[in-house]
Amino acid sequence: MERISRGLEDVDIKWTRLTTIDGERGILRYAGYSVEDLISGGASAEEIQYLFLYGELPREGELRDFVSKVERGYRVPAHVTSAISNLPRSSDAVALQMGAFASLAASERFKWDKTTDRDVAASVIGNMLTITADVYRHVNGLPLVEPDPRGGYARTFLRAALGREPTDDESRAMNAALILYMDHEVPASTTAGLVVVSTLSDIYSGVTGALAALKGPLHGGAAEAAIAQFAEIGSEDAVERWFQENIVTGKRRLMGFGHRVYRTYDPRARIFKEFAERLAPRNPDALRYYRVALRLEELGIAHFGSKGIYPNTDFWSGIVYMSMGFPLKNNIYTALFALSRITGWLAHFIEYVEEQHRLIRPRAVYTGPGERKFVPISQRS
Ligand code: SDX
Repeated sequence: MERISRGLEDVDIKWTRLTTIDGERGILRYAGYSVEDLISGGASAEEIQYLFLYGELPREGELRDFVSKVERGYRVPAHVTSAISNLPRSSDAVALQMGAFASLAASERFKWDKTTDRDVAASVIGNMLTITADVYRHVNGLPLVEPDPRGGYARTFLRAALGREPTDDESRAMNAALILYMDHEVPASTTAGLVVVSTLSDIYSGVTGALAALKGPLHGGAAEAAIAQFAEIGSEDAVERWFQENIVTGKRRLMGFGHRVYRTYDPRARIFKEFAERLAPRNPDALRYYRVALRLEELGIAHFGSKGIYPNTDFWSGIVYMSMGFPLKNNIYTALFALSRITGWLAHFIEYVEEQHRLIRPRAVYTGPGERKFVPISQRS
């Protein structure tokens, strides 16, 4: 009976040269580079986007050429912008991103082709910047801002979303967030997108499928759900009682804790925590939630640590985003997660379809009734 690996736990579905995770030791490497090294070494998001698509860090000229392809994607067709603005302001931000990509799937004639896939991927990374900035402006009832490409991807995004010049600290934090969330092997969202592209459906539909999976609170949705828990607790001195009533009782899950692969502290969470400590004092809510999170982390590790349940990347990221000026609403933190993860999705889609393509079609173990004859309803008592 137990032929089934529930949730595909420990099932390998593809080969990859993109990302490796050591869940026991808490190690995350992109094509051999540890995330700690990339962040401390001052890598730009664009360099790592290039690394994912081409397997090596770019030289100056290669980066310039790649960035111009990404920047061409900043201009999205008018129907994509209206696909966003025609939906209610109360919409979930990730659902709005899905709507935008579904409309791209409707209009763009895409065919898998080794000579063009990476150019299309570069422009999709550009599309995602504009789409995510437009989604943010729409849910906040603000006029759209044309992306101004000065200063690189992170700064361009913040300028278009927040409608002001970002500080150096904010751009550095956004750049780090883009790198930290960029890929993570084959989590639910990447797997969902791989199923879509394995049918040779188009790259835009693959992104739409990946977004649909990311949206859930057990996955990318935790980026919002974790800080929503900090907000619900409200202050440091309320943490202990909330923890006893909600988590120790097993009534609710501690969002931002636990992981299918990591059995120790998520290396990305450590880096996000450092940015949270540095940036939170600039925003009173972020600072209050930062103090709640510190106490919650202490209780969470004391309670769950022996089970290998520790903070994951989503525990601290929301505080960093809030410190930059993104309020807690409409699942925007998960949309920011998707802005980063689109590169990983595209890289896995290309790696799979170009090098190891096979339609993904698993089986199910039948446990229903044996063969039987149809009885017309008039004879069914
Ligand atoms: C992301 O896969 C990726 O790489 C994802 C991601 C990425 O970069 O793409 O890293 C991003 O999605 C991070 C995870 C964000 N999700 C959350 O923070 C939501 C809270 N976390 C849990 O729901 C849980 O830890 C999961 C879903 C993340 C992973 O859980 P598993 O591997 O499916 O394990 P499980 O749900 O079967 O839990 C095993 C046990 C259970 O207890 P028992 O029923 O066996 O008694 O551990 C408990 C769970 O109740 N448990 C938790 C818990 N996480 C696990 N209990 C309370 N709070 C938690 N957070």
